[in-house]
Amino acid sequence: MKILVTGAAGQVGTDLLPLLVEQGHEVTVFDIARRPAGCPEPVTWVQGDITGRPEVFDAVKASRPDLIYHLAAILSARGEDMPHVAYRVNLDGTMNVLEAARLFETGQVFFASTIAAFGPGLPDLVPNEISMRPTTMYGVTKVAGELLGEYYARKFGLDFRGVRFPGLLNAGIPGGGTSDYALFMYVEGLRTGSYAAFCEPHAMIPFMYMPDALRAILELAEAPREKLTRHVYNIASISATAEEFADAVRARVPGVDLTFEPVPELQAILDSWPRALDDTAAREDWGWQPEYDLEAMSDDLIAKVKALLVEDAPAPTP
Ligand SMILES: NC(=O)c1ccc[n+]([C@@H]2O[C@H](COP(=O)([O-])OP(=O)(O)OC[C@H]3O[C@@H](n4cnc5c(N)ncnc54)[C@H](O)[C@@H]3O)[C@@H](O)[C@H]2O)c1
Repeated sequence: MKILVTGAAGQVGTDLLPLLVEQGHEVTVFDIARRPAGCPEPVTWVQGDITGRPEVFDAVKASRPDLIYHLAAILSARGEDMPHVAYRVNLDGTMNVLEAARLFETGQVFFASTIAAFGPGLPDLVPNEISMRPTTMYGVTKVAGELLGEYYARKFGLDFRGVRFPGLLNAGIPGGGTSDYALFMYVEGLRTGSYAAFCEPHAMIPFMYMPDALRAILELAEAPREKLTRHVYNIASISATAEEFADAVRARVPGVDLTFEPVPELQAILDSWPRALDDTAAREDWGWQPEYDLEAMSDDLIAKVKALLVEDAPAPTP
């Protein structure tokens, strides 16, 4: 297939690209960032701004993708620092992608939604369909993006699909999400021996290990359309408190000093998100099944972060 990935220089895209290349797809990237050194050779890299409609149209027109993975976004914490930019990138950008897909007849558009699309005050296991009243600009733009995609599906017959990702963990550099505290416990814990998390110990939101998230992306794209009863799906695997994450790291990194110095604005964002998601619809419609729980993820992630530190790769700054 011909595949266009927007925002592929980020945490998800960096791990997704090699998989797509391995599977033999012809991959084009559209990202405001420059082509990174480790990008697989066959990938065509287009540097551009997703808010610029002509640039997006040109990239889609030139690459004529069968499938667009639309990942480009400004995440929650950065979005609160610059809400106007988040609005433009996340909402105007999504509109540009959908419109390009309509004009140049892209078969399918995948949308990376988020637990942040929900708002506060929901039950502990949040169902796939419930009133969504997010209180962050990131959440507002993501729920609007879901609805825009559904509009394009209804009005123009676009095959629009998406998942609501939990906070994602991998050995890469996170992109400014409020869930980043969990990953920093592993990375900073191993790199410096200590980390003070910006949340309360009892903070609890859904998380997922990146290999599961990537599998979800690929499996949903391959699912027969007639089996799908909706366009956007909750997916879930790990729901643990920050203290439980800290304990998982402590059990594997002797002597590590993990503490909590909550930043009220960031804790308030975490409080506005679900604690756990109900992903029954994804399981029933396209067989979604996570492989990693907190223990299995911690074993694998620690080995990967250690390997990166040995290679002396640049570490993320909390
Ligand atoms: N990482 C998570 O924990 C998480 C959780 C839920 C949902 N998501 C969603 O998954 C997607 C990918 O997330 P990520 O963690 O890789 O994000 P990231 O911040 O690491 O990467 C975002 C990418 O978008 C690009 N980008 C930003 N502004 C742009 C612009 N104006 N034009 C073109 N490209 C631009 C950046 O250069 C970057 O490569 C996003 O849509 C995000 O909302 C991520």
